[in-house]
Amino acid sequence: MTRTLPGRDTVMHSDIERVLISETEIDEIITRIAKEIDRDYSGSDRKLLLLCILKGSVVFMGELMKKITVPVEIDFMKVSSYGAGTSSSGNINIMLDLYRRDLDSCDILIVEDIIDSGRTLSYLVNYLTLKGAKSVRTVTLLDKPSRREVDFQPDYHGMIIPDLFVVGYGLDYNEKYRALPFVGILKPEVYTHN
Ligand code: IMP
Ligand code: MG
Repeated sequence: MTRTLPGRDTVMHSDIERVLISETEIDEIITRIAKEIDRDYSGSDRKLLLLCILKGSVVFMGELMKKITVPVEIDFMKVSSYGAGTSSSGNINIMLDLYRRDLDSCDILIVEDIIDSGRTLSYLVNYLTLKGAKSVRTVTLLDKPSRREVDFQPDYHGMIIPDLFVVGYGLDYNEKYRALPFVGILKPEVYTHN
């Protein structure tokens, strides 16, 4: 049976006010970042470890690792800085740690969905450096520099966005909307009716 599917960029969720970054744009952004990573890490005889920060970065990680052509290993950490809703608690909790004996031969590239206050990544870079990683760099799909509370710059970034709470492409609001294939802005009533 043949089914006609609508273009994925045009599929909207009723809670979304508007699409901020379409699936096609995200694909172009990730292609560009993967080339930058390839350029910087090619020829290295060390291990490049892509470290996905769960859960928000899982979609970005999946796409990015397919586009990077230098050999990589992957691993996962789970941290939380956000409480319920749209405000950060300010405290970083490690829910799933990284257990490896070979960190002294690993170039770690932390893969993050979005930087907001900067606390999560500045904490993690410090933590992994103290744990003995050979080098630690960061890549983020989205960056909200206007929200910074600590001085932090990622090594690679996809797109700078204004101070808006966004969902989709892995990002959630109270665990919802992660599976949307685009980055979108929620309708205000979704927050206020909660
Ligand atoms: P930071 O420690 O304040 O930089 O927070 C980073 C984390 O907050 C991200 O990994 C996300 O999980 C979450 N976060 C920040 N902004 C947003 C947003 O607009 N939508 C969804 N999650 C967000
Ligand atoms: Mg996150």
